[in-house]
Amino acid sequence: MKAISNFSDYQELTQLAENDPQSFWLEMSQKLSWFQAPKIAYQGDFHQANVRWFPDGQTNITLNCLDQQMQQNKDKVAIYFEPNDPKEEAVKLTYEELSQQVQECALALKSLGVKKGDVVCLYLSMRPELLISTLACARIGAIHSVVFAGFSAKALRERIEDCHAKIVITNKTGLRGNKNLNLLATVEEATDGLNFVEKTIIYHRPQDQVQLKDRQLDYNQWVAAFAGQQCPAEKMQGDDPLFILYTSGSTGRPKGLVHSTAGYMLWAKFSFESVFQMKSEKDLFWCTADMGWITGHTYFAYGPLLNGVSQVMFEGVPNYPDASRFWQIIEKYQVSHFYTAPTAIRALEAAGDDYVKPYEMNSLKVLGTVGEPINLEAWNWYHQKVGKSRCPIVDTWWQTETGGIMISTLAGITQPIACHATLPLPGIRPILLNEKAEVQEGANAQGHLCIAQPWPGLAMSIWGDQKRFHETYFSTYPGHYFTGDGAKRDQDGNYRITGRVDDVINVSGHRIGTAEVEDAINLHPQVVESAVVGYPHPIKGQAILAFVTTLNEKQELDQEINQYITQEIGPIAKTERIIFTAHLPKTRSGKIMRRILRKIAHNEVEQIGDTSTLVNPESVEQLINQFHN
Ligand code: WT7
Repeated sequence: MKAISNFSDYQELTQLAENDPQSFWLEMSQKLSWFQAPKIAYQGDFHQANVRWFPDGQTNITLNCLDQQMQQNKDKVAIYFEPNDPKEEAVKLTYEELSQQVQECALALKSLGVKKGDVVCLYLSMRPELLISTLACARIGAIHSVVFAGFSAKALRERIEDCHAKIVITNKTGLRGNKNLNLLATVEEATDGLNFVEKTIIYHRPQDQVQLKDRQLDYNQWVAAFAGQQCPAEKMQGDDPLFILYTSGSTGRPKGLVHSTAGYMLWAKFSFESVFQMKSEKDLFWCTADMGWITGHTYFAYGPLLNGVSQVMFEGVPNYPDASRFWQIIEKYQVSHFYTAPTAIRALEAAGDDYVKPYEMNSLKVLGTVGEPINLEAWNWYHQKVGKSRCPIVDTWWQTETGGIMISTLAGITQPIACHATLPLPGIRPILLNEKAEVQEGANAQGHLCIAQPWPGLAMSIWGDQKRFHETYFSTYPGHYFTGDGAKRDQDGNYRITGRVDDVINVSGHRIGTAEVEDAINLHPQVVESAVVGYPHPIKGQAILAFVTTLNEKQELDQEINQYITQEIGPIAKTERIIFTAHLPKTRSGKIMRRILRKIAHNEVEQIGDTSTLVNPESVEQLINQFHN
């Protein structure tokens, strides 16, 4: 199957995928290298939530990311590593070097008895060793579970326990701006007493030495024993799990989404190639996402490597040493395709144009955004000040669950519209449903965004909880995948995502469940109960607002409460504001009316409607006043 090179290709592929999805995806699978090519595209359906892709094919994602690249891209640079500290030495890795290091790490994992199906947890900052060890897991069929190195020891422990990781790989110090995070200490606390964790592997830079303890190994020594040796890729069934990635939901603990080997791989490869359109050998990709999130999996680790392109890996943050760091890096490496999040764009805009003005960034061709709805002001600034009005913006809508980009402009092929994700990729059938499950049609349709037909990138399950997977995504609208987002569609079929319609908050592009934050707040001995909602924030997109009732009135517990949150989840989930109140609005059955709290927080008090069914309607007026004080 050809790649999409113009609008009629896009239309043709869309049509083919609609007419006969089985044949379409089977033909598409020829884009990949296989040990054994599949004869079946997919089995199962959304009613059962049991779709399996390419179950009879055999492959390995590293066969595609590495071995396949040895034919034409052996000496091509895979990774330009830019350290947090611009004075530290930048490192390059060619595809051949990357492949060699992955194989050494894979052998080292095997030497510890790690086998196909075992889970390995990776808790590292954005250093090449994170990528190498992730690919090494995939090489031997171990399931990787990368945890963002900003999560607390408790959050890490919860994830390690849930997936029963037998090995944890970390680095001693995570460098982010002027912060030095002691990741090893976090891992030690997180794994204390967990006997199923057999070994912790520690990477460290020469300047930060480590005193090894029981069951700890030094990464460099560990892999050195296998220098120059090869480790062939393990044969994986198409529907064997490739990785687990935890994300927050509207209820309960974080869910470990499980992604498959071949379906995920095809979606990563195809969506990357179609959306970004990297055509020239000189093109250079840079996705600023951390590997702790899905964007870092699909458009840092896998998508670019599957397509044999060169890319930048950045350890640091946008504003260190100052707010021109991104633009400096773009010029230094001549980045052509740049992919970042609205929150970063807004923060850099707020720092002032003087940081971006001196940089011509003539190499830039395409700009991407992901993670939350982008507001018009930020879109214009990105377009004008970064792209100098020359570069199309691809506003890419997708989710941890969807594996890769679902709705987006294809650079140079379909038309960008400010603040719109625009059109679905071939094979993606979005549908808008109202609360009664009625399909919303026509110009200016609006509703809950669902997907009507299987596609290869969708996660297979929630680790250890298939029932929750079914309930969360396939029970609201039987036969459809429910995204949790609201959307609008114009007369030309362009989508605009309006944001979450459930209890998920998107803070600086990080997905946070209100229930998790409430659980953390409720741990404070003085707290009786709490309700958490999101509300608009000029840079973070959304910020966290907590309504809290305490045992004694008139207590200022903001700091203490945020300490609980930092301990339980991590600093990313701290509240922006806490409103202490004697009463939360409740129904007669005792349910907190979060809907009303959301309206207060969004300044939509005229839409609150009838409050007469509440036990304490007077609380609403009082909270409105408090919110405005
Ligand atoms: C949620 C998914 C997809 C990788 C990063 C986030 C929001 C994502 C967009 C966009 C408007 C967006 C949605 C979605 N979102 N991209 N281009 N426009 N909203 O992954 O943590 O799984 O969060 O992010 O609300 O449901 P995630």
